[in-house]
Amino acid sequence: MTPIARDDHDKRVAVLSGTAASEFTEKFGRPPRWIVAAPGRVNLIGDHTDYSGGLVLPMAIERYTLIAAAPAREGRRLQLHSAAVNQSVDIPLDAPPTAGEPSWANYARGVVAGFLSRGHALPALDALVVSDVPLGGGLSSSAAFEVALATLLETALGQPMDLIEKARLCREAEHQYARVPCGIMDQLISAMGNESGALLIDCHTGKTRPVPFAGAKMSLLIANSEVRHSLGAGAYAVRRSECVEAARTLGVPELGQAKLAQVQAAEARLGGLLFRRARHVVTENERAAAAAQAFERGDWHTAGSLMYDSHRSLRDDFEVSSPELDTLVELAADIGEGGGVSGARMTGGGFGGCTVTLVATERAAAVGERLAERYRQRHQRALTWFVARPSRGAHVLQG
Ligand code: GLA
Repeated sequence: MTPIARDDHDKRVAVLSGTAASEFTEKFGRPPRWIVAAPGRVNLIGDHTDYSGGLVLPMAIERYTLIAAAPAREGRRLQLHSAAVNQSVDIPLDAPPTAGEPSWANYARGVVAGFLSRGHALPALDALVVSDVPLGGGLSSSAAFEVALATLLETALGQPMDLIEKARLCREAEHQYARVPCGIMDQLISAMGNESGALLIDCHTGKTRPVPFAGAKMSLLIANSEVRHSLGAGAYAVRRSECVEAARTLGVPELGQAKLAQVQAAEARLGGLLFRRARHVVTENERAAAAAQAFERGDWHTAGSLMYDSHRSLRDDFEVSSPELDTLVELAADIGEGGGVSGARMTGGGFGGCTVTLVATERAAAVGERLAERYRQRHQRALTWFVARPSRGAHVLQG
C-alpha cells in the first residue's frame, strides 16, 4: 500500500458518495436531493485535555461519514437508515426524542433534539448513512455521524450554523443522548478541519489556529489495534471527574489553567493519583503548544519526541493506554529515525483504538507492513493501518 494521494482521496469520496446515492435510491425509490459528508479525526497531541480547557491538535482525516437525504413524502419524522447495520429508525420531529434502542440512533436523536431546542422547525426527511470511518476505532466515528447529520439538517433548513455552535450542539447530543461526557475536540475538528493541516484548539477560549502540516515529506500513519477494552466508557467519565477534583484542590476553575509548578507544590494535598492526573494535563498542554510550533516549522525530530513523551504521560500518569497501544508505540520507536519514524503515540480517548506515527512518506508503506508483522507476532492479531493526509471538514457534496 502506498500513501494516499489527493486524487485517490477524491476518488474515495466519489465512490462513497455513489454508494450513498444508489443505496438511498434503492431504499426510498427516488434519488437523494442532498448528500453531505463529515470526517473522522486523528489527534496529533493533546489528549484528555479538552474537557479541562486545555490545548489539542487534531486533524481531520480522509475517512468520512456521508448522509444522503430527500424530503419525506409523508409523516413528521426523520427516517434514518444505517447501511452499516442495515437498520432503520424513525425519529419524531415535534418533541424532543427519547434515547433508547437501537443505541447507534441516539447520536441522531441528540442532534435532532439540539435543533429543536434552538427553536428550529425541522422538515420531515428520509435519509441514509454510510461511512468509512472505522466504527469505535478511536477516530471519532460518532462525532463524524453527529456533524454529518447537523450539516444535513442545516442544509435542509437553508440556515447555515456557526461552526462552533454546530460543534457544541453535537457535543450536547453526545452528553445527553449517548451519555459520554466528552470534550469539544472531535466535533470541532469534524466541523472545521481543512486540507492544509491540523488545528490547534484552545478549549478554554475556543480560539483556533491552523497549523499547516509542512510539505508532503512526512505523513501520519494510523495503526488500528482493533482492540477496544470495555472499561473505556466508564473510565473516561472517572478521569473527567478526577480532573474536576484536582482543579478544585488547586483552586483553579479548570485544570488546563494550572501550571506545573503549582501542581508540584500541591503534591501532598492532591495525593498520588490526582497528582499524576494533574501532571499529565499540565505537561500535555505544554507539549501540545511546543508540538504545534515544531510541526509548523517542519522540525520532525522535536515533534516526534513530544509525541513519545505524550504517550508515556498518557500511559503512566493518566493510565488510559492499553498493552496493544504500548506495543505499537514501542515497535515504532524500535524502527526509529533511521527507518523513517520520528515519533508515535496513542491517539484519542485510549483503552484501545489507534496509534498515530509520524513517518517519512517514502517509508510509510514499509513501516506499516513492519508494524503489522511484529504486532501479529506479539498479540496474534491483524493490524489495520493507513496513511492519513489532512482533509476537509464537514461539507455538502450535493444539494
Ligand atoms: C475522546 C473524546 C474527546 C477527547 C478525547 C481524549 O475522543 O470524545 O473529547 O476527550 O477522547 O483526548
